Amino acid sequence: MTRSTELFHQAQAIIPGGVNSPVRAFKGVGGDPIFFKQGKGAYLVDVDNNEYIDYVGSWGPLILGHCHPAVIEAVNKVLHSGMSFGAPTELEIQLAEKITSLIPSIEKVRMVNSGTEATMTAIRLARGVTKKNKFIKFNGCYHGHSDSLLVKAGSGLLTLGIPSTPGIPQSVTEHTLTANFNNLEQTAQLFEKFPDDIAAVILEPVAGNMGFVLPEPEFLNGLRQLCDQHNALLIFDEVMTGFRVGLTGAQGVFGITPDITTLGKVIGGGMPVGALGGKAEIMSFLAPEGPVYQAGTLSGNPLAMAAGLATLSEIEKPGFFDRLIETTQSLTQALASVAETLNIPFFTASLGGMFGFCFTEKKRIADYADVAASDEVLFKKFYHGMLDKGIYFAPSMYEAGFVSSAHGEHEVAKTQMAAEEVLSQLKK
Ligand SMILES: Cc1ncc(COP(=O)(O)O)c(C=O)c1O
Repeated sequence: MTRSTELFHQAQAIIPGGVNSPVRAFKGVGGDPIFFKQGKGAYLVDVDNNEYIDYVGSWGPLILGHCHPAVIEAVNKVLHSGMSFGAPTELEIQLAEKITSLIPSIEKVRMVNSGTEATMTAIRLARGVTKKNKFIKFNGCYHGHSDSLLVKAGSGLLTLGIPSTPGIPQSVTEHTLTANFNNLEQTAQLFEKFPDDIAAVILEPVAGNMGFVLPEPEFLNGLRQLCDQHNALLIFDEVMTGFRVGLTGAQGVFGITPDITTLGKVIGGGMPVGALGGKAEIMSFLAPEGPVYQAGTLSGNPLAMAAGLATLSEIEKPGFFDRLIETTQSLTQALASVAETLNIPFFTASLGGMFGFCFTEKKRIADYADVAASDEVLFKKFYHGMLDKGIYFAPSMYEAGFVSSAHGEHEVAKTQMAAEEVLSQLKK
């Protein structure tokens, strides 16, 4: 028995399902999860001393790879001055200044501890500002696990095959309206049905929790217009895409200005952080400046602020994203060319340092249904084949992949070689 399996058995006895977040349990691909002990650059080492190229990057935050020296140094420096004060620090201002200087739609920002908190607060804020109740979310988009947002949510839930979850009263989700991603018509119909009661539209501008789904440009434009017409706020959940698909997030790439942006992952450089930001007049509704309550014991934690600041300082250096995009594109091209040579139906796409793939004949992936219709059996076999060869993709076909600046040609070549061997074997 491997040490990983041993630890998993141990964990299952005292931690529900043996993991502290469901998608880690490998239910999406079968088998037991791997326990890791170390990360270095683009690589992970498990408790049995196997090495893997890491395309998960802690689900997105590690855009610089594991243990980047600048991040380690920044955290180390703060560590010795005190880990938490529950009182204001200068580091919070510095990270807020960095974020507002990079993302023009954000004039003021509130730090929280997770993406879940950020989106939950964004919805509360939108309701407080507009004095309306309902909001629209898209099937397959995941915005964390707060009650009202856990309706037709992505990845973990899709993988587990449950559309929602017990424990949430109907009365809590009655104001959550859903439409299909990239479907403007359905969204417009919801506005027609509830013309005066929609506070917000929330979406992942590039969806990364139902595989990897790019928005059609007219979809984002259309949502902006619908929100303006109906005095609703447009919330871009950029917890995953923020500082990941580009230095100005998905909103910069597609040229759309949301009213509220939620952030997480990269802005914490691997530490637990979330944030929400937007125009000053909207953000001023938050307590203590305004009436909409929000708080957090560890919010703006110095270690997290330091790790985030160090990370953003690295990624804003000239050429950072050019190199990241080059590596990511060469990875997806490598995978696509292997599949093409072997005549295996395959779709792949990327933006910035984020990518996805699925086994399908389709040339366009527009929503959750398109991803769900792809070949999951083949995905699982490919997944385990790659894992055996030391390539660690996210253990579910409903997840995006992430490349860091520590990845390069060498890792792409190794991945390509592994894919060639695995897919050739599967083709037999
Ligand atoms: C787009 C998006 N929003 C929100 C969240 C929730 O963030 P957290 O897991 O930090 O609560 C996630 C997590 O993956 C996410 O991808």
